[in-house]
Amino acid sequence: MRERIPVAVLGATGMVGQWFVRLLSRHPWFELVAVAASERSAGKPYGKAVRWIFPEEVPEGVRELPVVPPEPGIPGKIVFSALPAAVAGQVEEGFARAGYVVSSNARSHRYDPDVPLLVAEVNPDHLELIELQRRNRGWKGFIVTGGNCSTVQLVLALEPLRRRFGVEAVVVTTMQALSGAGFSGVPGNAILDNVLPHIPGEEEKMAREPKKMWGKLTPEGIEETGVRISAHCHRVATRDGHLEAVSVKLSRPAAREEIVEALENFRGLPQELGLPSAPKQPIVVRSEPDRPQPRLDREVGGGMSVVVGRIRPCPVLDWRMEVLGHNTVRGAAGGAILNAELVVAKGLV
Ligand SMILES: NC(=O)c1ccc[n+]([C@@H]2O[C@H](COP(=O)([O-])OP(=O)(O)OC[C@H]3O[C@@H](n4cnc5c(N)ncnc54)[C@H](OP(=O)(O)O)[C@@H]3O)[C@@H](O)[C@H]2O)c1
Repeated sequence: MRERIPVAVLGATGMVGQWFVRLLSRHPWFELVAVAASERSAGKPYGKAVRWIFPEEVPEGVRELPVVPPEPGIPGKIVFSALPAAVAGQVEEGFARAGYVVSSNARSHRYDPDVPLLVAEVNPDHLELIELQRRNRGWKGFIVTGGNCSTVQLVLALEPLRRRFGVEAVVVTTMQALSGAGFSGVPGNAILDNVLPHIPGEEEKMAREPKKMWGKLTPEGIEETGVRISAHCHRVATRDGHLEAVSVKLSRPAAREEIVEALENFRGLPQELGLPSAPKQPIVVRSEPDRPQPRLDREVGGGMSVVVGRIRPCPVLDWRMEVLGHNTVRGAAGGAILNAELVVAKGLV
């Protein structure tokens, strides 16, 4: 690509927004030209408005960018949305109407029948919904959403098994990192020496989103799959990286070696196309009995791979395994950037 595409980040001062800024500051296709946040931050230079979470300095070139309100008219062809769901819905619609391509992390439009809920390796064909979306709404631009951080890694890890053996039912227990709760997150006094056995709305999202992601594309939208999912979600005191204990019921019998082989050799369209944020190996299998662990394994593939371990028979369903994914990279900013790369590669920008 000779000229980089100008892009903006909405919610740039938050937890996911800062990951967007970090990843985009060194992106070969995209140039970050605008940062937007709330009234609290608007008008200040980004470097002054943000409470920066990374050890390195705020990237040069972004530090002095003025924070603006998230309103159409700001520079950029693609906008990455890391806004809270309460505001994201209308704001994202405004941008799509005005002709921008919106790649969102918020849940506001995830279940709209004409909006792709995309994991780039899993359901790239769902990008065909964009045509329906534009027709339905009369927009020049469009919205593509990414899944909830705990759903994305689950669906990616199970995709090779779904394709080869079929997936009928899943029981998943999550241990979710603090960064998943946003910058203000969970009060220290609530989480230190503790595990919180409830994350509002999370179990419902985990049970619903895979049905759309694994759904069949039809002229009217997505026909959801009937897979049954039971999720138990917990907040734990890790910083980044959601660990999930997964039991899965397959449609056909599978041997352990076949499962390992299917996971390790899985490649999707982003790998075929060589997209800049696509990890070479989307799923990495560890054989040690005590892996994956959030602190040791979350950076694999630059945070874009999921790591699977402890693959063993399940006496209730068929197979058990541990799945780890970097929630703010693969499950949020990195995933949304990969989705946008796919949109560009498909000639939709
Ligand atoms: N954290 C994760 O792992 C994760 C994963 C997947 C999806 N998501 C989703 O991504 C979105 C962002 O999450 P987060 O964890 O980054 O949240 P966060 O840390 O609370 O950040 C929220 C951002 O939105 C801005 N904002 C808040 N209210 C606004 C308003 N009324 N108008 C304009 N901007 C406003 C904030 O700006 P100020 O700093 O100026 O207040 C901040 O930049 C949410 O929809 C979340 O559900 C998060």
